[in-house]
Amino acid sequence: MILLEAKGVNVVYQPGRGERIWAVRDVSLSLEEGEFVGVVGESGCGKSTLGFALTQMLQPPAFLESGVIEFRGVDIAGLRGEGLRHQRRRGFAVVLQSGMNALNPVRTIHHQIGDVLQAHKLGGEHWSKDAVHDRGVELLGMVGLDSSVLGRFPHELSGGMRQRAAIALALALEPELIVFDEPTTALDVIVQAALMEMIKELQRARGFTALLISHDMSVVLDATDRAIVMYAGRIVEDQGSMQMVQGGRHHPYTEALFRCYADPRADDVVLQDIPGSPPDLSLPDSSCAFAPRCTIAEGRCWHERPLLAEVGSGGAIACHLRGSSEESAMEGRQGGA
Ligand SMILES: Nc1ncnc2c1ncn2[C@@H]1O[C@H](COP(=O)(O)OP(=O)(O)O)[C@@H](O)[C@H]1O
Ligand code: SF4
Ligand SMILES: [Mg+2]
Repeated sequence: MILLEAKGVNVVYQPGRGERIWAVRDVSLSLEEGEFVGVVGESGCGKSTLGFALTQMLQPPAFLESGVIEFRGVDIAGLRGEGLRHQRRRGFAVVLQSGMNALNPVRTIHHQIGDVLQAHKLGGEHWSKDAVHDRGVELLGMVGLDSSVLGRFPHELSGGMRQRAAIALALALEPELIVFDEPTTALDVIVQAALMEMIKELQRARGFTALLISHDMSVVLDATDRAIVMYAGRIVEDQGSMQMVQGGRHHPYTEALFRCYADPRADDVVLQDIPGSPPDLSLPDSSCAFAPRCTIAEGRCWHERPLLAEVGSGGAIACHLRGSSEESAMEGRQGGA
């Protein structure tokens, strides 16, 4: 069953007079109940902006210019005030890159859990100090922290512990959708791996829908059921119900991302970066935005923007060569990507 469906979402930043940056461009996607979906792409391609748009957390200078976002069939894009609060209550939560950003530096973890529970009056009840304590111990237990953390301030915790505490806060209202925006990027590799394992286990055990945003293809491949690839504000590949596998039929940008990631099990690992840089998002795109960096670009790539087209596997690819018919995809492959 579909939990969230976005259609034609456009998000614009208007940082100053006359300045407009189209950070998310005509994005449509759907998330099934209990699904773990990844969004991957280079820094600046619009992943976080999309995550905030889907959960109605955009802040000026960002605006949802157009689009429909339905959560359990209710269009939440136009909701404000109490209507939005009502929808957020148990609806969705966001975990950001640094736990420090999500936590209040001058309140203990106990107080912060209490703040969330009181603010949303889960079940209409008043939360006594003891009840907050008990729920706090339970939530910290879910993320592998012991009860002593309740009395501590964020600065008294390590980076990994802070991120776990931030996840405990996100779980407090038992949301149906959690967006994890680069949840492990600020942490060292060992802590990163342990935290990702915990997120996977939590998702499996509690059954919420998860959207994992990351610039790191290896993190997304390891954790998610399905990956969506973004480039310059657009979805260029959506694997549909398929798990993304290296070697399948992919957008040239997805293939380039694969080449940036090391499989630790492989003997010979040759990593390649993607030459060039992403385009300026203040300009419209009437051609393929990836063309200047694409090794198989041909004539029409420079003057016609490819649309996201379904490919046989149930997924979709936006590429003149890989996204259209099987024959032209094969021609593209022979073209030498
Ligand atoms: N506060 C802001 N003001 C103006 N433009 C912004 C702001 N934040 C992001 N952008 C623009 O939106 C684009 C997408 O940003 P973001 O969603 O943060 O990308 P990602 O999460 O993929 O790194 C950026 O490339 C930038 O051009
Ligand atoms: S449309 Fe053309 S330039 Fe764009 S990714 Fe496909 S082959 Fe490359
Ligand atoms: Mg981001």
